[in-house]
Amino acid sequence: MWKIKWIDIELTSFCNIHCEGCFREISKYADNILNKQMLSLETIQEKFKKEDFPGCEIINFCGSVDEPTSHPQFFDIIKHFAEWNVHINIATNGSLRTIKWWTELAGILPKSHSVTWGIDGVDETSEIYRRGSKFKIVEKNYRAFIKAGGRAKWQFIVFDHNKHQEQEVKIKALDEGFKNVTYIYSHREEVKNPKIKHTQLPPAPKREDKPKPPKPMPPNPEKQGYRIVSDQLVLQNQETKNIECKYKAQNRIFVNHMGNVIPCCHLNSEMLEYTAGREENSQFTDILNSNAGELAVNLKYNSIHEVMEGDVWKDIADTWPTDKPVEKCWKTCKKRKHDVFIKESL
Ligand SMILES: C[S@@+](CC[C@H](N)C(=O)[O-])C[C@H]1O[C@@H](n2cnc3c(N)ncnc32)[C@H](O)[C@@H]1O
Ligand code: SF4
Ligand code: SF4
Repeated sequence: MWKIKWIDIELTSFCNIHCEGCFREISKYADNILNKQMLSLETIQEKFKKEDFPGCEIINFCGSVDEPTSHPQFFDIIKHFAEWNVHINIATNGSLRTIKWWTELAGILPKSHSVTWGIDGVDETSEIYRRGSKFKIVEKNYRAFIKAGGRAKWQFIVFDHNKHQEQEVKIKALDEGFKNVTYIYSHREEVKNPKIKHTQLPPAPKREDKPKPPKPMPPNPEKQGYRIVSDQLVLQNQETKNIECKYKAQNRIFVNHMGNVIPCCHLNSEMLEYTAGREENSQFTDILNSNAGELAVNLKYNSIHEVMEGDVWKDIADTWPTDKPVEKCWKTCKKRKHDVFIKESL
C-alpha cells in the first residue's frame, strides 16, 4: 500500500472520436465495453470523500478510453473535487462541447488547474490522428476556455505526418495563450509511425585487451541465490529486482470508469479486457481470478483504501522481486520504456 497524492480517474467509456493508437481502436474486446458505463456522480461523492484523502494533491481526469468532457455530470464532478484544494487536470481531445460550456468550465475549476489539449497539429493536420475531430471546433473551444481565464496546455504527439509542425506548434501555442507544450514521441507499436531510436552499440574490444579471468565459483552456489544458465552463474531474480513501480514512486493510483481501483493506467488495458470477457490469462488476471475477480477491486464492494490494502494489490507487488513479475510491470517498469515527454516552457 502506498500513500495517495495523485488519483487518475477514468470517468467514462465514451468518446466522440477515433484515434488510431487508442485502446478503443486496437483492443479486439473494446466493443464489449465501450460507450456503456461511467462513474456516477453518486459513486464519486460516496467513495471520494475529502477527509479520506488528506495527502492528495492531484486529481487527473485522464483514462485509457474516456473523453472526460463527455460525462453528463462533469461540472458537478469538478465542483466536488474543487473543494478538495488540489490541482485538477483534465486531458481532452477538445472537440466536444461548446464555447459556452468551455467558458463555464473555466469559471468552476479551482485556481490550481490545467486542461491538457491533445491537438496533434497546428491546423487540420491534427484531424489525421484525431480522426473525427474538427480542428476549427477545437480551436474555438480552447480560445473560449483561455479567454475565460482557463490554464491550457498543448500536448502534441509527434508522428511522421506532423513532425514538420513540431516547432510551429510552440509559436501557435504561445500566440493563443497556452502555458506550455508537451511533446509525446509515441512508442505505441499500433501507431503507424512510431519514433524509432537507434541505440549505439558498444565498441568491439580491442585486440590487445586480455579477456578477464572467470570469477571463481562460490561454494554451494544455489544456496547463495545463484543458478546455472549455459555454464554461467547468474544471480537468481537478478533482472526482476530492477522493477521500480512508477505509480508507487509518485504515490499515485488509478480508478477506471467501472469503478475498479488498480495500481496504474498500464494495468488498465488488461483490467478492461478482463471485464470485457477476455479468456486468455496473464499473471495479472490470474491474480484477479484467485481473489474474487473484479469484486476484489471494485468500488461497489470496497473503499479505495480497502482495495489498496487487499490481496490483489499485495499479490501484484509480491511478484516484483521474483523471477516471475506481472508481465506488464516487467515491461513497463523494468526499464524506462515510457513515452518520452519533453516540456517546453513558453
Ligand atoms: C486515452 S486518452 C484519454 C483522454 C482524452 N480522450 C485525450 O485523448 O486526451 C489518454 C491519453 O493518451 C494520449 N494518447 C492518445 N494516443 C496516444 C499515442 N498514440 N501515444 C501516446 N499517447 C497517446 C492522449 O493524448 C491522452 O493524453
Ligand atoms: S480522444 Fe482520447 S479516448 Fe478518444 S479515441 Fe482519442 S485517445 Fe482515445
Ligand atoms: S506496471 Fe506495475 S510496476 Fe509499473 S506502475 Fe503499474 S503497477 Fe507499478
